[in-house]
Amino acid sequence: MAPVAAFKGGPILGIETSCDETSAAVVDEDGIRSLAIASQDAHAAFGGVVPEIAAREHIRSLDAMVRHAMREAEVGHADIAGVGVTAGPGLVGALLAGVNWAKAYAFARGLPLLGVHHMEGHLFGTALEHESAQPPFIGLLVSGGHTLLLQARAWGSYRLLGQTRDDAAGEAFDKVARRLGLPYPGGPQIQRAAERSAAARGTAGGAAGRFRLPRPMLSRRDLPGDPAYYDMSFSGLKTAVARIAGQLEEEGALADAVDDLAADFQEAVVDVLAEKTRRAVEQTGCRRVVLGGGVARNSRLREGLAERLGSSGELYAPSPRLATDNAAMIAAAARFRLARGERSPWSLNAEAALAFPGLA
Ligand code: KG4
Ligand code: ZN
Repeated sequence: MAPVAAFKGGPILGIETSCDETSAAVVDEDGIRSLAIASQDAHAAFGGVVPEIAAREHIRSLDAMVRHAMREAEVGHADIAGVGVTAGPGLVGALLAGVNWAKAYAFARGLPLLGVHHMEGHLFGTALEHESAQPPFIGLLVSGGHTLLLQARAWGSYRLLGQTRDDAAGEAFDKVARRLGLPYPGGPQIQRAAERSAAARGTAGGAAGRFRLPRPMLSRRDLPGDPAYYDMSFSGLKTAVARIAGQLEEEGALADAVDDLAADFQEAVVDVLAEKTRRAVEQTGCRRVVLGGGVARNSRLREGLAERLGSSGELYAPSPRLATDNAAMIAAAARFRLARGERSPWSLNAEAALAFPGLA
């Protein structure tokens, strides 16, 4: 083995395998040089991600993704200056596939290795596309496994403001979609159904307003300092939708109501997320809001956030490609930490519930 070189800048190879996207990317000081993503479609038939299938698919396609990313970036092995890999949170078998690949590659090439927190990666993903998405900012991270509202004082230094107490926002989208008979992954299906509802009713992208759904943990009586001021909950909302769906089903009226129900559900989620984010901007005086995670693909969420923030905030949202799990964001997060002199040991492990780094 070659001695591990110090990181002096240059292209970072990023690897992401935390869920059902196998991704490799090359990122340097100028930004994204290449990004390859293989979305595993083997899970759709099961209505959700099957962990063992995910791990095996990663092992099958990771080598091809890396070759693809390096070819597109026009770099050879000798050009790579460091390796970043998602170490958690996520499915442990899926994570291990990427972690072991990255360790073997870095070890063989004598390169510094950095294990990245997937959700911190999502913040860097948005920053890759927006020059001004820099701390201090309010971060709203919404994915299939997490929903976090935080204040970033500097890169690597965060204050957690609030989080979901039960289901993540994306998880609620997926579960509601399933209850409404829409295919997996549910998030984009709910958005499409809501768009059909809006078009049919002539409302501007918003909810049909046909079903009255709760806004969990959102009350005018919430005060700054209460944990409930920023915390969220989506499980009760999901149950409320399921109850209405059950009634409609008995009346044989569900099929005709799916689009409207999806629209009202989406509007309730957007309402809660947008208001909690507005509160964070108001209380901290941080104007910039950085959105990240798969649910950031939801156009109604971006619209609702921009509306609610008005002129008091600046919203930075990722493009669909960078909102989805990808290795460019992981390489960018690794770059930041490698440049600070951080390293992960060869004993780096995958952690399904890895804690968010740098929380004060
Ligand atoms: O960040 P991500 O790609 O993977 C995780 O880290 O979990 O997020 C995946 C989640 C899924 O729950 C998916 O349904 C949701 O993002 N999602 C959406 C949309 N596109 C993806 N949710 C709402 N609207 C969308 N358009
Ligand atoms: Zn993610």
